[in-house]
Amino acid sequence: MIKKYVFGNPIETGATVQKIPESLSKISVMQMEKTEDKVVLFYNMEKEDIVYGLGEQVRGINKRGFSYISYATDDPIHTEGKHSLYGIHNFLIVSGKWTFGIFIDDPGKVIFDVGETSMETLKITAGKDCVIYTIEAESLKGIVKQFRQLVGRSYIPPKWAFGYQQSRWGYENQKDIKDVISGYKDHKIPLEAVYLDIDYMEHYKDFTVDKEKFSDFPKFVNELKEQNIHLVPIIDAGVKIEEGYSVYEEGVENNYFCKEEDGKDFTAAVWPGKVHFPDMLNTKAREWFGGKYELLTKQGIDGFWNDMNEPAIFYSEENLKKVLEEIIAMKDENLDIHSFFHLKDLVGSLSNSSIDYAAFYHNMDGLKICHKDVHNLYGFYMTKAAAEAFEKIEPKKRILLFSRSSYIGMHRYGGIWTGDNHAWWQQLLLSIQQMPSLNMCGILYTGSDIGGFGGDTTKDLLLRWLEFGIFTPLMRNHSAAGTRKQEVYQFGDTKDFRNIIRIRYALIPYLYSEFMKAALEDEMYFRPLAFDYPEDTSAKRVEDQLMVGESIMIAPVYIQNAYGRYIYLPEEMLMVRMKSPEEKQFEVWEKGDHYIEIALNEVVFFIKKNHMLPLAILDDMVNTTADLDESRYEWIGFAEERAEYTLYRDDGISKTYTPQKDWKSYVFSEEDFADKYQILG
Ligand code: NOJ
Repeated sequence: MIKKYVFGNPIETGATVQKIPESLSKISVMQMEKTEDKVVLFYNMEKEDIVYGLGEQVRGINKRGFSYISYATDDPIHTEGKHSLYGIHNFLIVSGKWTFGIFIDDPGKVIFDVGETSMETLKITAGKDCVIYTIEAESLKGIVKQFRQLVGRSYIPPKWAFGYQQSRWGYENQKDIKDVISGYKDHKIPLEAVYLDIDYMEHYKDFTVDKEKFSDFPKFVNELKEQNIHLVPIIDAGVKIEEGYSVYEEGVENNYFCKEEDGKDFTAAVWPGKVHFPDMLNTKAREWFGGKYELLTKQGIDGFWNDMNEPAIFYSEENLKKVLEEIIAMKDENLDIHSFFHLKDLVGSLSNSSIDYAAFYHNMDGLKICHKDVHNLYGFYMTKAAAEAFEKIEPKKRILLFSRSSYIGMHRYGGIWTGDNHAWWQQLLLSIQQMPSLNMCGILYTGSDIGGFGGDTTKDLLLRWLEFGIFTPLMRNHSAAGTRKQEVYQFGDTKDFRNIIRIRYALIPYLYSEFMKAALEDEMYFRPLAFDYPEDTSAKRVEDQLMVGESIMIAPVYIQNAYGRYIYLPEEMLMVRMKSPEEKQFEVWEKGDHYIEIALNEVVFFIKKNHMLPLAILDDMVNTTADLDESRYEWIGFAEERAEYTLYRDDGISKTYTPQKDWKSYVFSEEDFADKYQILG
């Protein structure tokens, strides 16, 4: 049951799609205090209560023991002391003696103190104008389903977006892209897409392509398409200020940019230097900006990633002026401990400053509203701009779209990637833990920068990360300029990398089917174990294993130099150990804790009893999803009596999801599997 409570005079954020009547009674699941400028909620947690949710955040699956601040932030150091990342997903579930979900629809700053100040107290501090939804149901899955129905169906990408993708900040030109493609081809490793980071543009100007670097861009895009390889360009939030640049000129002329208090276009600096930010919250400006994506779709592009849309600000003119004046005044001073650290902080304070976020305004179709109060909506509305334009440009075709910043509601328009992580083992664990929290909030098409974005990766980290990444819908290797090269062929012998990526392709029929079912039925593709085994106390405490779709559980290795790991099995399961799609071993393990060895070149996962999954049968020539033969499968499963699987299939590109026609149930009995756990279908 969902209840809706309205406080003050909130703006319509677009987070929800279901109309729920406003409840006039008091919030029943938490205590509430209202002050002049805040709504504060309290809940006294029992020792065993678990708190799930908050989407893209630091720390574990159970969010207890820290404070999380919902204020979209461009911060590339995702360590456990940080309070905010890029995406804002104010939905959580308290699970325990009393179980309920709560969603705070407030696009300004919201603080979730989940037992940091006092271990037993959950305290949520929202602004005075907000809408709060509470959800109660029989089960955790039931709460999530109701929440997801409230916020609407998740974005569905084209099927090719489940292929393996390579990116790097630093691919400069056509030759760099061709080299990457031949790197993969030469080693017979599948590759579905290559990303264009900011260097493809002319001086970082959105919707331009540098002609010196790409002499005939449409020809190049289409040559790659013939090989079923997609080019995916980045689009940044800020529009460069430059006379003669049409996007800038049209924006100024039509008042499409965010304004300062006095009506002047707000100026900040990002990659190209000074920029204006399109007013994504204004319908006309959004339609105009979205329409610009056609400049690239016209040239054959069918996928985009939206970046820097918190929006990230390097500095604003005002702020820079003040800081420089202060620094210059220090020129001949003898800087002591206080003044020296102040100097350092001054420079740091230039970027993403709350002063800047309070200095510009949106015109929400007639309503003038300060950015700081709707800060968390910017990335959402930039992505909505693109997605709504695609409905017009390509109404029948799915276009790949994902964003860095997000808010609940954006999940209907695109996916997200988890931003600038590091080539650190702890970030692999973080990525594992973020996935179910994101799925709860509706974000299904997601994944992290495999191998790590910042810092130098190592071969073992990349292998282990890929062994997890083969299960994430977005499987993209991406790294920052200046770091060690991270394409899988940069590490000597490519055999193990090739095998792991081929395992991903073998799994695609299952992964895609499970993704589609989760999207169409408002369910989670990645789940904490407790969602499937609610009565099992040990399962509830597991922080580093996930259910993936209906048939399997994964337990990735995320510690360097580990030979394996402890794994908790909530029931008897079939372990599948794969070195390649062709080399598989099966072993049944009892319910309970086990230490299981997992070599650096092995993928291990577990099939639930009476479940099974299809694997694509790959020949040597499979380079992309277009080469997958789905006329028959190899089935692997664990049938005590019989195993059943409902497979969703479609053409992977059109938007007509016709469940009845495309869903097929397969049933096999124990005898079909014999003791081999395999059937060639
Ligand atoms: C920040 C993004 O998070 C990262 O992925 C990208 O490579 C850089 N911007 C450069 O565009």
